[in-house]
Amino acid sequence: MNLKNRNLISISDYNKEEYLYILKLAEDFEKNPVQDVAKEKVVATLFFEPSTRTRLSFESAANRMGARVIGFSDASNSSTAKGESLADTIRTVSCYADIIVMRHPIEGAARLASEVATVPVINAGDGANQHPTQCMLDLYSIQKTQGSLDNLNIALVGDLKYGRTVHSLVEAMCNFNTTFHLISPDSLKLPSAVKMHIKKRNLTYYQYTEIQEAIDKVDILYMTRVQRERFLDIQDYEKVKNSYILDKSMLKKVKPNMKVLHPLPRVNEIATNVDSMPQAYYFQQAQNGVYVRQALIAAILGLK
Ligand code: CP
Repeated sequence: MNLKNRNLISISDYNKEEYLYILKLAEDFEKNPVQDVAKEKVVATLFFEPSTRTRLSFESAANRMGARVIGFSDASNSSTAKGESLADTIRTVSCYADIIVMRHPIEGAARLASEVATVPVINAGDGANQHPTQCMLDLYSIQKTQGSLDNLNIALVGDLKYGRTVHSLVEAMCNFNTTFHLISPDSLKLPSAVKMHIKKRNLTYYQYTEIQEAIDKVDILYMTRVQRERFLDIQDYEKVKNSYILDKSMLKKVKPNMKVLHPLPRVNEIATNVDSMPQAYYFQQAQNGVYVRQALIAAILGLK
């Protein structure tokens, strides 16, 4: 498998065999997290939008592999604030780094960056569109907790309209004969362009408005935050912000293998009394992000 110099902008840029290759590498990094394979390399992390997990786990991953990290976590401290275009910023950073990890609020910004960059670009989230590296760590977490990615029942709960992690995960899981349980308010349903991936594969999906309608049937309950920053009208956000609050009492009749995942950050959609339940897996999921991002950096830089 050769992923050297490959961009990762949308999860569909890679195929099933390539996902599985990354997951295998991640497993190796989990066993041996400190491997000096990227000693001579520079990783740029350009975050035009806030992040805790994605930026810090990429930086942790790079550091554990001996790479140096440059970049910014607040674009107002970059020359973007003086009016520099994204294309010029990316061309410039290409001169300083071997790989660029970029998050941007505008859908398509990462694709544009990859078209002007002279080094590979990894999309760390572009607006409501895609979050492919979160998807890889979600796949890793699902495989690790279920023993396989095949033939699972997955519930996706919350903001299916604006949740970019949901969009990437649905596209990826379409490769594994998944049955989807889509749980959202009417105004936050999965966009038809994403649903099309399920239909093209002739996979089954169900739509509900209540968690209780599906919770006893699923292997994975993937909770998401309502993405306040994507709403044009804050009143619309106020109407749906408390649609789902998963509470410990709701976990009484779930399948024994069922795990609760969440890309995080959470607001109030998972009560803290769930955190100590055996089903709660979201903090381990965040930890898996380091191994998966080590795998991605190593594969794309041609080091593994
Ligand atoms: N899951 C995720 O993207 O988290 P951050 O916004 O903290 O990076």
